[in-house]
Amino acid sequence: MKALILSGGKGTRLRPLTHTMAKQLVPVAGKPILGYVLDHIAQAGIKSVGVIISPETGQEVKDYLGTGKSWNLRIKYILQEEPLGLAHAVKTARDFLGNSDFVMYLGDNLLSQGVKDAIRNFKKARPDALIFLKEVDNPRQFGVAALNKDGSIRRLVEKPKRPPSNLALVGVYIFSSRIHEAIDRIKPSKRGELEITDAIQELINMGRPVLSKVLDGWWLDTGKKDDLLQANTIVLDEYINRNIKGRVDDNSKITGRVEVDRGARVVNSVIRGPVKICEGAEVVNSFIGPFTSIGEGVRIIDSVVEHSVILNGSLISGIERLEDSLIGRDSRVIKNSAQHKALRLMIGDDTVVEV
Ligand code: G1P
Repeated sequence: MKALILSGGKGTRLRPLTHTMAKQLVPVAGKPILGYVLDHIAQAGIKSVGVIISPETGQEVKDYLGTGKSWNLRIKYILQEEPLGLAHAVKTARDFLGNSDFVMYLGDNLLSQGVKDAIRNFKKARPDALIFLKEVDNPRQFGVAALNKDGSIRRLVEKPKRPPSNLALVGVYIFSSRIHEAIDRIKPSKRGELEITDAIQELINMGRPVLSKVLDGWWLDTGKKDDLLQANTIVLDEYINRNIKGRVDDNSKITGRVEVDRGARVVNSVIRGPVKICEGAEVVNSFIGPFTSIGEGVRIIDSVVEHSVILNGSLISGIERLEDSLIGRDSRVIKNSAQHKALRLMIGDDTVVEV
């Protein structure tokens, strides 16, 4: 079993953050989403991993994952020149995949459970595809499955105007090499992409066995701001433990599950977990409320911040209340005059906001 991780694309839905960074590298609870994906692949005992990259963000992805050694994986990078669809990505990786079974994992998807059990089930049942489904409120934005009464798949449609159900296809799939045959038979969709959803439908048309499993745990497609904040909330809630390695002065109070990394500093402040404070960050005369991730080298001075993600190198100063916000790298949010309103922001990297 090999793994194919998709880390290309343009990340248009997460702009402006993705003008300067790959969407798969946006950190959730201080760690890039792609890092969690690699964790899952490694836990499943897979060794050989192909990572699809784009010309725009490929280097950044390579810089983060390297050879894969930190996960005990061997990574081969595969360049997809243009984002022509998920099935096109599989086509591009044809040489790497050979005739192996493989797990395909979209690098911006976060799952509560890994893929270990699913791979075991795949090996036992030997279908040509095993897909995962999850009930969603907005099925129009996803691939959608219509099931028969016995739970078998009747049909799959990509981003339907009139969804036949609220069961979305999760961005994790397990395939046999038969998928390549199906991909060779499909045509680009209306949005001009070779859709993996159409290829799986083609497997069904070919009379090949396709199994589905409705996920019990949570699943997040982190492609949008609100999903990223939600992902941050869930991951902080599940993974953060109390671990104070940085310096906290006697005038500060830290309650609950808070991680303060080495080299971070908390001065005269209150931190109420779950909160992650990364290396080199400084929190001075401030209150940090639950579900906040503070990136490397961030400075928070004389401010209240809650339920927000602040990426590396940013400055928040004199802000009475910042909540539900996602702040890009090296941004500055500074207050100049008296004002009494909560702020809700989504601003890009290198932005300056003065209020
Ligand atoms: C892709 C798939 C879609 C799936 C989704 C999951 O959509 O085409 O079927 O439901 O990933 O994240 P995209 O993110 O390319 O719009």
